[in-house]
Amino acid sequence: MRRAVCPGSFDPVTNGHLDIIGRASRLFDEVIVGVLVNQSKQGLFTVEERIAMLREVTASYANVRVESFQGLLVDFCRAQRASVLIKGLRAVSDFDYELQMAQMNIGLAGVETLFMPTNPLYSFISSSLIKDVAKWGGDISAHVPDLVRAQLSTRLRP
Ligand code: PNS
Repeated sequence: MRRAVCPGSFDPVTNGHLDIIGRASRLFDEVIVGVLVNQSKQGLFTVEERIAMLREVTASYANVRVESFQGLLVDFCRAQRASVLIKGLRAVSDFDYELQMAQMNIGLAGVETLFMPTNPLYSFISSSLIKDVAKWGGDISAHVPDLVRAQLSTRLRP
């Protein structure tokens, strides 16, 4: 079975993430979305909340599963029996760090990284930017699923 991991913080999931997850699901038998548990960085949403949102918005993909992980991504890949990572590239500015991580991950455990160009519709979107715009009441409806927009509005503008 060909399995791939789509890793990230997903705080929260955006349409850019969903585009990559959906396209990956058509290329692999199974896609595991890996949500990083980062003890040293407090997110806006808890990992459980991020996972709940991800599960809901990926429910229509029968071959996508959402799990959390701590520690090294390559250890998570090994535990999931996946040898491929899928990463979206929004712009050249993403490339430097992504290349470093890809080379480290192949060196650490032979885990390959495949880069997928982001749909240009979403190339300027990041979770951080979405949170900032939502905080000040800006319209983010084109950039995140409705469920996420509602959760952001409750969390940021109660
Ligand atoms: O959505 P993000 O925050 O850009 O995702 C970053 C992520 C989770 C892919 C990266 O931080 C990561 O792989 N963290 C796990 C720890 C690890 O394996 N570090 C070494 C990477 S070479």
